[in-house]
Amino acid sequence: SAPLRLGIAGLGTVGIGVVKIIQKHADLIAARSGRAITVTAVSARDRLKNRDADLSAYEWVADPVELAKRDDVDLYVELIGGESGVARESVEAALRAGKDVVTANKALLAMHGQSLSELAEAEGRVIRFEAAVAGGIPVIKTMTESLAGNRLERVMGVMNGTCNYILTRMESAGLPYEAVFEEARQLGYLEADPTLDVGGIDASHKLAILSSIAFGTQVDFSAVEIEGIERVSIDDIRRAADMGYRIKLLGVAQMTARGLEQRMSPCLVPAESPIGQLQGGTNMVVVEGDSVGQIVLRGAGAGEGPTASAVMSDIVELARGVRVPVFGQPATGLKKALPARTAVP
Ligand code: HSE
Repeated sequence: SAPLRLGIAGLGTVGIGVVKIIQKHADLIAARSGRAITVTAVSARDRLKNRDADLSAYEWVADPVELAKRDDVDLYVELIGGESGVARESVEAALRAGKDVVTANKALLAMHGQSLSELAEAEGRVIRFEAAVAGGIPVIKTMTESLAGNRLERVMGVMNGTCNYILTRMESAGLPYEAVFEEARQLGYLEADPTLDVGGIDASHKLAILSSIAFGTQVDFSAVEIEGIERVSIDDIRRAADMGYRIKLLGVAQMTARGLEQRMSPCLVPAESPIGQLQGGTNMVVVEGDSVGQIVLRGAGAGEGPTASAVMSDIVELARGVRVPVFGQPATGLKKALPARTAVP
C-alpha cells in the first residue's frame, strides 16, 4: 500500500532520534508496518542549528501549523513540547485538517488531553502518545492492549528520572539536596524549568495521563495531589535507610468507591522492593489488574533513543491501520477524577 507520509515538528533530542530510526531501520519498519514510512517535511525553531542527522531530503516548513495541515502529510508528529502555544495550535490544526497525531507532549496532554480527545473524536481522528509517559517503557500499550482483559485496580510508579537520580545520589554519596540538584543541573538532567522535575509536576503530568487510561476517566492534572522532593533532607534519607526503607517520588492512582484518587509524593518504600531497588535516572511503572495480578515495567524514562523508540511504536501502529483512541470513549461521556483535596492518604 501507499507509504505513510510524516510531517515532524520539533527537531530536538526526540525529533532527531525519530529521524535517525526512520533512516536506520527503514526496511525493518516497512516490514512491520506493511508499508513504507517516509518523512515529507520537518519544522523547528532554528533552521541553521547543527543537527546530528541528514535532513536534506525533507522539505523545511517554518510554521508547524502549516506543516500540520499539508496535503502531502498523512500523519503529524508533534515533538515541540510545552502545554500551549504552537504545540497545541498545530495539534488542533492537524486534527481539524483530518490528520492523526503522534506526540510525546506530556504537559499538553495532562492539561488539554480531554479537549483534544473530544476534538479528535469529533473529527474522526486519533492522537497517540506512548512517549509522553515513562519514555521508552511501553506502558500505554501494555495497559490498552496487553492488559485489555483486566479491570485495572492500581497504577503506580516512579515517572521522573531526574528526581530518582537526585534521591538515589543523595543516599549513595551522602550529599545534601542542594549539592545533588546542582550536579543534576550540570549533567543536563533538569527540565528548562527545574520546578517541573523537583516539584513533582512532570511526574504528575504522566500520572494524570496514565490514570485516565487505566480507569477511563477524564485526564485532569489539577486533580493530582502533588508534593515534590524539594524538602527531602539527607537526614530523612538516612533515617529511612536505618529502618530498611528508601524515599522515592511515587505516583499512585487508584479507583475507590468515591472515584479516582491520584497522588504524587515522596514515599517510604522497602529498600528490597522493586521500586526501592530502582537506581539513577530509571523509571518504573507498576500496574495491577484483576486477572493478571501485578506487572512491573522498568526502563529508561528519557533520552533520545528510548523516547524516539516509543514515538515510533505509535507511528508503526497507525501505519498498520490500528486507529483506536487511547483515552476512553466517547470522550464526552467520561467521568471526572476526584479533586485533589478530597484524595485521602
Ligand atoms: N525530566 C523528565 C525526567 C524527562 O527526568 O524523567 C522525561 O520526561
